[in-house]
Amino acid sequence: MNLYDRIPNNVNLSEDKRLQRALEKWLPNFLDWWRDMGPEGFQEKDVWLRTAIDVGSEGWAHFDYVKMPEYRWGIFLEPAQPDAKVGFGDNYGQPAYQEVPGEFRNALRRIIVTQGDTEPASVEQQRRLGATCPSLYDLRNLFQVNVEEGRHLWAMVYLLQAYFGRDGRDEADALLERRSGNPDKPRILEAFNQPCDDWLNFYAFTMFTDRDGKYQLSALAESGFEPLARTCRFMLTEEAHHMFVGDTGLSRVVRRTAQLMKENADVREVGGIPLEIIQKYINFWFSYSLDLFGGEISSNSADFFAAGLKGRFKEQEQYTDHVAAEGTFTMFVVEDGKLVPREVPLRNALNEVLRGEYVKDCEKGLARWNKALADEGIVAPTSVGESDHRLKSVPRLYLPNIRFHRHVGEYAGHYFDTEGNLISKEEFEAKKSVWLPTIEDREYVRSLMKPVTEVGKIANWIAPPASGIKGKPFAFEYVRL
Ligand SMILES: [Fe+2]
Ligand SMILES: [Fe+2]
Repeated sequence: MNLYDRIPNNVNLSEDKRLQRALEKWLPNFLDWWRDMGPEGFQEKDVWLRTAIDVGSEGWAHFDYVKMPEYRWGIFLEPAQPDAKVGFGDNYGQPAYQEVPGEFRNALRRIIVTQGDTEPASVEQQRRLGATCPSLYDLRNLFQVNVEEGRHLWAMVYLLQAYFGRDGRDEADALLERRSGNPDKPRILEAFNQPCDDWLNFYAFTMFTDRDGKYQLSALAESGFEPLARTCRFMLTEEAHHMFVGDTGLSRVVRRTAQLMKENADVREVGGIPLEIIQKYINFWFSYSLDLFGGEISSNSADFFAAGLKGRFKEQEQYTDHVAAEGTFTMFVVEDGKLVPREVPLRNALNEVLRGEYVKDCEKGLARWNKALADEGIVAPTSVGESDHRLKSVPRLYLPNIRFHRHVGEYAGHYFDTEGNLISKEEFEAKKSVWLPTIEDREYVRSLMKPVTEVGKIANWIAPPASGIKGKPFAFEYVRL
């Protein structure tokens, strides 16, 4: 098999013998990892997948039946722009970095390793979901997300091996050695050590956690380190589908719950997922995903921006001042047991600025789900008990306040209700089972997770999608079992 067939790429791999050797050495380890930690029980099945074979608008999404271990994990960068410049920070307007600038080497390696670590982590988190799929359509979407996260790992490993020499190769190996949720060698970020073992978790994860990925990749797509920017720009095209899976998945669960609420006041009686459980899963994954943006006040964010490594969301389109040396940002912090406003130099608040963009995007999802409730004519929260007062009068799902249930940054170590009010630890503990999934909630959701694998059929707890994938109907054999 020639090199291009083994490792499809648009980075002239055949010209670079050193890189080729490094990647060919890494490839069998990757395949071992995929067989051990990738989707369990479906490795030999034909799955109707899209494969990136080129970055052009035609070639990048080629659909066909593929066995996952034979998926062509390629290395694709958006084409180089001849006069690329550093788009922000202290070196604004200077030629973009084509090699790693010595003084930023460690920072850049850390950024790439942290992003890279999330990709295999999510595959590990989702590896058992296939056994309980609600339909073949959903099963195929799960596997599409999984193989693309595998390809994103390749993308980050390419950068490490091509630009960071010996320690880049070591980091590439370590990316295959850490394991999600393993206490001895956990994945780097906490959201990626949380179990994702039922489909409601999966949709919430792809809605909220993959969406963090969109914002991190968007900020890195602005990078003055040109190979990183070009890599991330192409990854974003794939990421859009992951968020689609989460957003529409949750929307379909909400819609089905609303339909069942009209049949029976207690949707559990008719095999549905109560709105209050859906809300708790939203609270859980939204808060963990907010942590992924890092501290509210961050010298790292200032350094990365100053160095031209990590920009703001749509830096070029949205902003005119790309130096951002002067401005300030006001945020709330806890001081002497009270929430008080604090003014922070803008560059130190860039994690919070990016988080704000993310929250706005999440709110659009909530609006869509609430529209699904309204479309179904849900007015009385029949299945909602005494518990969550915000779901009580008119049932509307909501995003908890950004301070709620945080483990990173200014709000970690303090307690807030879902509206963002500072409360005591005791008050939080007393309300925790109303706001976050309990063991019983998780067990109930798991009890509904029975596989449905007949073509055109769907589990009772979720509505079918509005349409299939790439012009195929919902009733299509997306996975040949
Ligand atoms: Fe990814
Ligand atoms: Fe993703």
